[in-house]
Amino acid sequence: MSTHIAAEPGAVAPTVLLPGDPLRARWIAETFLDDATCYSEVRGMLGFTGTWQGHPVSVQGTGMGQPSLAIYATELFREYGVTTAIRVGSCGALSEQVAVRDVVIAAGACTDSSMNRIRFGGHDYAPVADYDLLAAAVAAARSREGLTSHVGLIFSSDSFYTPRPELMKPMAEHGVLAVEMEASALYTLAAGHGVRALAVCTVSDHIVTGEETSAQEREQTFADMVEIALTAAFG
Ligand code: ADE
Repeated sequence: MSTHIAAEPGAVAPTVLLPGDPLRARWIAETFLDDATCYSEVRGMLGFTGTWQGHPVSVQGTGMGQPSLAIYATELFREYGVTTAIRVGSCGALSEQVAVRDVVIAAGACTDSSMNRIRFGGHDYAPVADYDLLAAAVAAARSREGLTSHVGLIFSSDSFYTPRPELMKPMAEHGVLAVEMEASALYTLAAGHGVRALAVCTVSDHIVTGEETSAQEREQTFADMVEIALTAAFG
């Protein structure tokens, strides 16, 4: 058992999906996994292990934001031998090329977080996805009929209610597709631990147009995203 995850040794699979919302973790386990059991309920941040098409897989809620994700990712990498970590979450579209309900696969993640600047003594680090996972997810997404997907940069913000929304404009002008709150820390921590990582996000809202998705739409696109992530992990 680690500080924030109450799993027995061996109870977490080498491949883990990481939704921010612990109730999404339960929904993923119940919807996609066979024989799923809950291994941790500490602070309500649920974790489950089951199998998908015969492959062991875990789903661990991370909470919102990079500090919270970093706690769970660090413990999974250090204490539970996780080798593949895929964030599945929502994002807000920044680019006019990206619409609500689309899927964004993050090749790399910019950030306003100080976590990396502290880690690298003020130097800028470029957090990127594992290339094999990225390529497999892009292929899986492009083969899904009726789904529009994008691959490129995202921005991992420390603020959902950003005090400086105007700073997103130059990001969009430099190819950043969408905003979320976790991928940059995940990619950095994964690289430091020799873990393969990827973030796949569904677009829940559009920062430029103000459009939002309904709960039902979010569930369908979330399902597409989970299948893309699982196919990428084991494809
Ligand atoms: N996740 C989903 N929508 C978001 C937004 N607008 N900003 C940050 N994270 C998000």
